[in-house]
Amino acid sequence: MKKIAILCSGGDVSGMNPALKHFVEYSIQKGLTPYFIYKGFEGLIDNKIKEASYCDVAGIINKGGTKIGSSRSQRFMQQEYRKQAKANLEKHGITMLVVLGGDGSFRGMEVFYKEHGVAFCGIPSTIDNDIAGTSYCLGVDTALNIIRNALDAIRDTASSFSRAFVIETMGRECGYLALVSALTSGAELCLIPEVPYDLKSYEKNFKEQMKNGRNYFIAIVSEGIAQESKEIAAWFEKSVGMEARVTVLGHIQRGGNPTVYDRLMAYKFVSHAIDGLLQDKDDAVICFNDGGFSYKSINKVAFEKYELDYELLNYLKDMQNV
Ligand code: F6P
Repeated sequence: MKKIAILCSGGDVSGMNPALKHFVEYSIQKGLTPYFIYKGFEGLIDNKIKEASYCDVAGIINKGGTKIGSSRSQRFMQQEYRKQAKANLEKHGITMLVVLGGDGSFRGMEVFYKEHGVAFCGIPSTIDNDIAGTSYCLGVDTALNIIRNALDAIRDTASSFSRAFVIETMGRECGYLALVSALTSGAELCLIPEVPYDLKSYEKNFKEQMKNGRNYFIAIVSEGIAQESKEIAAWFEKSVGMEARVTVLGHIQRGGNPTVYDRLMAYKFVSHAIDGLLQDKDDAVICFNDGGFSYKSINKVAFEKYELDYELLNYLKDMQNV
């Protein structure tokens, strides 16, 4: 029987556990022996590799994080450790790998593939949704719903206490989480690294809104410019004339019960990844665009810069048209 393994690399996301569950079930259904690699590439190097069974994945579909752990491995960037990783796979007779991670993990896998010929399929998994070639990465929906809950709660206190709140979302250099959250939670201001901003241009309009009865503001700031959050809060106080607070949402965005959408996407991503490997697609990433899945080369995914959807950017302009 052919042997196939799965590992999680980089920041964990809600949706990884449902993916692990389906990986075990679908591999067995396809006549493969499934293996787990614990702690990402670190575990691959240290031979933390075990055959997986139904028992390992019972009761995990509703859990955030990843039962097999994840890591950001510096060692995997070095050839000697990749050699060790290959030797470990050989010990177990594993010839195919499914990798849940971001573009950095896929770049690492591509080098590994070129050196040692281990077939792999990448599943885009990051709450940042910043991988070129796919409009959706596993975990994004859960993160957005966590942010929505937080924003709804903050709105309660903001409106009760007549305050402006500057709320930081994650996303590194990508404003996707902040932008979608602003559009779906009715924020008055959204600042992301992709769009230059000038606070002065909002002053007149915000003061006007206050005269017309507005007693709170929700401003969402993406991680890429989060170092400016305190200044933005100070601007609300001094220039707009409303008391302000900063809230950093932080790692709560990475955890929590996976949404139905992420569970379903996990199911589909894993099915396509395994099908692709069985059809000899040796070094691809399974991508999701316009409602459909396709296999893309690493060059199209891991070496190109992710661009935010222009439609979303236009909505942002409309929303903030002051
Ligand atoms: O890549 C996901 C992410 O949550 C980013 O949004 C964030 O910048 C980073 O990981 C945080 O990393 P760490 O958990 O190592 O602090």
